[in-house]
Formats: sequence, C-alpha cells, structure tokens
Amino acid sequence: MSQATSNSIQTIRPAKNLRGSVRLPGDKSISHRYAMLAGLAEGTSVLANFSTGADPHSSLACMEALGATVVKKDDGTIAVTGTTGQFKQPLIDLDCGNSGSTMRMLAGLIAPHPHTFRLIGDASLTPRPMERIRGPLSKMGAKIDLTDGHAPITVHGGPLQAITFDTPIPSAQVKTAILFAGLQANGTTTISESVRTRDHSEHALRAFGAELTRSADAISIEGGQKLHSLNLTVPGDMSSAAFFLCAALLFPESNLVLDDLGMNPTRSALLDVLVGLGLKVKVLNLEEHHGELIGSLQINSSAQLKGAEISGGLSAQLIDELPVLAAIAPYTRDGIKIRDAKELRVKESDRIALVAKNLKVMGAVFTENEDGLDIPGGQTLHGAAIDSGLDHRIAMAFSIAALRAEGETEIHGAEAAAISFPEFYTLLDSLCER
Ligand code: S3P
Repeated sequence: MSQATSNSIQTIRPAKNLRGSVRLPGDKSISHRYAMLAGLAEGTSVLANFSTGADPHSSLACMEALGATVVKKDDGTIAVTGTTGQFKQPLIDLDCGNSGSTMRMLAGLIAPHPHTFRLIGDASLTPRPMERIRGPLSKMGAKIDLTDGHAPITVHGGPLQAITFDTPIPSAQVKTAILFAGLQANGTTTISESVRTRDHSEHALRAFGAELTRSADAISIEGGQKLHSLNLTVPGDMSSAAFFLCAALLFPESNLVLDDLGMNPTRSALLDVLVGLGLKVKVLNLEEHHGELIGSLQINSSAQLKGAEISGGLSAQLIDELPVLAAIAPYTRDGIKIRDAKELRVKESDRIALVAKNLKVMGAVFTENEDGLDIPGGQTLHGAAIDSGLDHRIAMAFSIAALRAEGETEIHGAEAAAISFPEFYTLLDSLCER
C-alpha cells in the first residue's frame, strides 16, 4: 500500500485474517484534554504517547496562540509549559482545523479570560452546530457570537458565574466546555447528564489538581481552583482500536494483541457489543493511571457472527464506533440495527448518509432512517470506489468492510484518516494476512 497524500486513493485488498501485536497511538479525546489543561496550568507538563492525529495538534497550536509553550521532543513526548491561569490575547484566530472537540472545549476554557477570541475551522467544522455550547456558556455570563449557529465564533471573554445545567444532548464536548468554564467561574457549577458520556475531563481535571464531586448523575466543580503541571502518558485510543477489533471479528483465524489500550468504562461499551457479536476478548494487565484504565487485549474471533441492536444511551456511548459497526454489519449473521443516533448526521460529515452511500456502492441492502440504519446480515459485498467525504472515520470504516469484500476497494480521500490515526493504513497492512 502506498502512503496517503492529498486527495489520495488507498487500494484495500481482501484479507484472510489479522495477526500480530500493536501498541496504538494515544487517545484523541484524552490528548485534547491534557493539552488544554497543561496549557492552563502552572509549570511544565510532559505528555507521553500523545495522539499523532491532526486534531489534538490543533488543540496544541491553539494553546501556543494563547501563550503556552509547546515543545515536541525527540523522544516523542510533548512538553507544554502552561500560562498559570492567564491566557494572553491571541494575535491570530484560534484555528481548530477539523476538530469539533477543540472548538467546543476551548470555548469553555477561554470564556473566563478578559480578551476577544475568534475561533475558526475548516470546511467540515465550520457548519457544525455550536449553539449547544453558546447556550450554557451564555447562562454563565459569557458573550459569544456565532455565525448562523456555527463557526466562526467570537468569544468576548470575562468573569463567569457558576450554573446548574442539565445537558439536553448527551455530549462530552459540551460537558467539558462547561466544566472548563466552571473551573474558572465564581461558585460551584453542577452538570447532570441523562447518559453518562466519556469522563476523561473529570479524570484529567483531578490529575491536574482540581477537586470535583460526583453524585449518581451529576458532577460538580468549584470555581477558582488552580492547576499544576504533571507528567502523563496517554493510553492507546479505543476508537482507533475499534477498526482492528472489527476487522479481527470478520475472520475466525484472527489473533491480535493490542497493548496499553485505554479501557475507560465510558469508552469500552464497544467491547460488550463485539463480544455479543462473537469476538473473544481477554483483558490482560489492567492498571489505573490518573483515573484512566489501561490494559492489553488479546483477541480471537468465532466462526459465526451473531447480530446487534444498538439504541438509547448505548448509541451515544458508541457514537464514534457506529460507522465501522455499520460497515461490517452485512457480514454478520443477524445484522445490526442502529437507532437514536441522529447525532451522526452532524459529525465531520453526515455519517448516516455517507455510510448508506458507501454500503450501497458495495452492493449491500439496508434501510436508512433519520436516526440510524437497519442492516441485515448474511450479505456478500463487492469492492467499489468509496467516498470518504474527507471524514476520517468513514475512510477507515470502509477500509475494514473492504477486507471481506470480493475484489479490491478504493478509498477516495483516504488521507482523512490522519485526522485521528495517521498510521492506520500502514498498521492495517502489517496486521493483515492475505
Ligand atoms: C468527544 C466527544 C464526542 C465524540 C468526539 C470526541 C470528546 O462528541 O464524537 O469524537 O472527546 O469529548 P460529542 O460530545 O459531540 O458527542
């Protein structure tokens, strides 16, 4: 396989199975949070196994524009010297690139600072909905101007008041924006969520020295707390692992070991679904580091894959893994039904529409709904020209579907994978036996 270049095409050939052992680059979600909190803290934090994806590097660049110093060291670690709680007036727009996490979480982090900030993004990020952060941050007293509900965003920063907030849409990005603002507001901010979304911000805030209290469905943070620097290692990315786990599931002869993987329970619902489908998973060496569970997974598959129904809170918890689950669904015995996943329509692309388009060109039959897809099992797909829509998860999801298809598949816009997982094609190639 050749390396992806701009608007590149990757050709994926069918495989017989997956074998080998890999340690995946650091988790994208955790890397964003460590970058931002290190940039706010006092002192120098050293971050090991930081995500190699473009998105968390957008967060690092924004932290530099806000006055932090970022040094990428030869040993692969990243040293971030923070601003001791005092961001400076940036001289440039804060460019969030393709990253919704950067834009939404950063808005909360900067809103308490007495400057004017302009947040911009690329063609995919610009139209994504931002009212969801403007609402709660405005309640706290921030003045935020959106452009027709989306970016470019202007944040007129200033002192904030704590709020009590019920998140209407399950979103860890929104929860994080409020927690980051609450850390620097007057009073105690409380957020309740109906679905427990990923809790990396809570763990990261505690690691950097903040106190948070948690009840059954709410989390509270007191304002005015100072953060201190520390050295952290980012666990391997479960959402990147998802592609190899789903690939292994397709071949009963597979034998895969994934080392040092993030196993945070708010991110590992995928394993339960895959075990239900027929994956055999052994968890080895589980340890906790700064609140995050890290372990190794040994993976085998079964001869016959069952089916799955994913709905309600589970859809929210699996939101990033749904494209790849949909892409392998035709190869299962009983198919996969996805419901309550309307949020997929406002991700880096309309992921329901793009999954449907690409399943169709590979010859699959299915039903598309407003909030999901019903994909029957027992189907044979053929290789085709896939449109990634320049969405990283679509490019990688259909690379996995291609492994069991008849004939070769071309992934158009393959370079999008680099948003979260630049090593994807090389690693996939090294693990596949053909
Ligand atoms: C993320 C939360 C999710 C997810 C995104 C990363 C995070 O988005 O889809 O890839 O790091 O908090 P939402 O908060 O919009 O659900």
